[in-house]
Amino acid sequence: MSILIMGTGYVGITTAIMFAELGIQVTGFDSNAAKIALLNQSHLPFYERGMEPLLQRHLQEQTIRFVQDEQAAIEEHAIIFLCVGTPSNSDGSANLFAIQQASEWIGKYMREQTLVVIKSTVPVGVDERVSEWIASKQTRPIPFDVVVNPEFLREGSAVADALAPDRIVVGSDSEEAAQRLLSLYEKLDCPIIVTNPKAAIMIKYASNAFLATKISFINELARLCDGLEIDISEIAYGIGLDPRIGAMFLKAGIGYGGSCFPKDVDALLHTANSNRKSLTIIEHAAKVNRTQPLYALDVWEKVMPSAFKKATVAVLGLSFKPHTDDLREAPSLVVISELLSRQAKVRVHDPIAVLPVHFRALGVQQADTIGETLQGADAVILCTEWPEYREIDWLPMKPLLNGHIVFDGRNALDGRSLIQSGYDYYGIGSH
Ligand code: UDX
Repeated sequence: MSILIMGTGYVGITTAIMFAELGIQVTGFDSNAAKIALLNQSHLPFYERGMEPLLQRHLQEQTIRFVQDEQAAIEEHAIIFLCVGTPSNSDGSANLFAIQQASEWIGKYMREQTLVVIKSTVPVGVDERVSEWIASKQTRPIPFDVVVNPEFLREGSAVADALAPDRIVVGSDSEEAAQRLLSLYEKLDCPIIVTNPKAAIMIKYASNAFLATKISFINELARLCDGLEIDISEIAYGIGLDPRIGAMFLKAGIGYGGSCFPKDVDALLHTANSNRKSLTIIEHAAKVNRTQPLYALDVWEKVMPSAFKKATVAVLGLSFKPHTDDLREAPSLVVISELLSRQAKVRVHDPIAVLPVHFRALGVQQADTIGETLQGADAVILCTEWPEYREIDWLPMKPLLNGHIVFDGRNALDGRSLIQSGYDYYGIGSH
């Protein structure tokens, strides 16, 4: 059996490797020639821990191949996964250009009965539009099914998540099509939910919106704890032991980022708006997240001798979370912009992610080492909890720094030991 994956972004490549690991022959298609060339040389267009060796192995074993010719790729396959991007439009709605283009190509080039699987995150009802786009380009009627099969993988552990999922969700109006898709997953052992396409899509949006809301809940509570001298980490631990609440996604910080939570929350709010409904809890979760980095900076600047004006600030971590180079919606970028507007001088470090050029033009420097980043700094702000930052031995760093203030935007450092080493330490929701 051979499947076609259209779109070689994060979801597409992870899906390709997952199916190859399950013993299925995979063809990956992308219209971007540079990406295909890179992939065929066993290189990923992004950083993901442990993924490149898997890619290399599957290319060598010829379980995966990457192509740029959509016609040949579609003609050769009867199971096609849509994994193309659905970025946000300026109004929060999902941009469906790539989905439409891929669907029209399928309609134009398909030769036999085809199963089209939507893995990209798409708004409710898009499966029907995919069917229309496919049908609109067919020159003769060939039967096809469109099913929805959302992914729940996290960056940094994408392949592991894909190979050990919490659940597999299939949205299909045809029991036969659902079973055909599920046969691809037969080696995985997890709960399976077969429902209609709308509900499958809503499960995906609701999962991300719920997790985002959980983070904003703890972040908002952290603001109150700050004023009451209560440590939010203790509260999170205390409530998280209740299995009805659960310990995960209760880590207070400067807010959530990434390619999914902000985009999917906006898309869900857009769907609600278009249906003249308001999701006030989720709206508020998004608002708390937008303001969280600013809240942290407002609190922190009060302990700086002259606020952040003319201060040199060392920012540790750029990526939206550790073990990825992804800067999409990273709270660090808001922190850096805001520091600049508060007239600070900013130097940054990240083990992998690269500072966007527009910040360089504004005088922000990216240092190669943590030591260089801290050199002469008046304060340090941790934006991403990379392991190397947790392991910093702060005592020998003291002579490097001009001021000994550490702001921990992820509550990830050992505050007590920093204080013992003579630093002023401030986290989120802990003073
Ligand atoms: C998320 C979902 O977890 C995944 O199921 C979905 O398929 C895609 O979106 P991802 O974006 O890779 O995955 O990262 P995740 O680990 O969920 O973290 C998202 C953001 O929330 C990060 O910025 C992280 O720092 C932040 N976060 C997470 C918190 O601020 N506190 C927490 O307790 C957990």
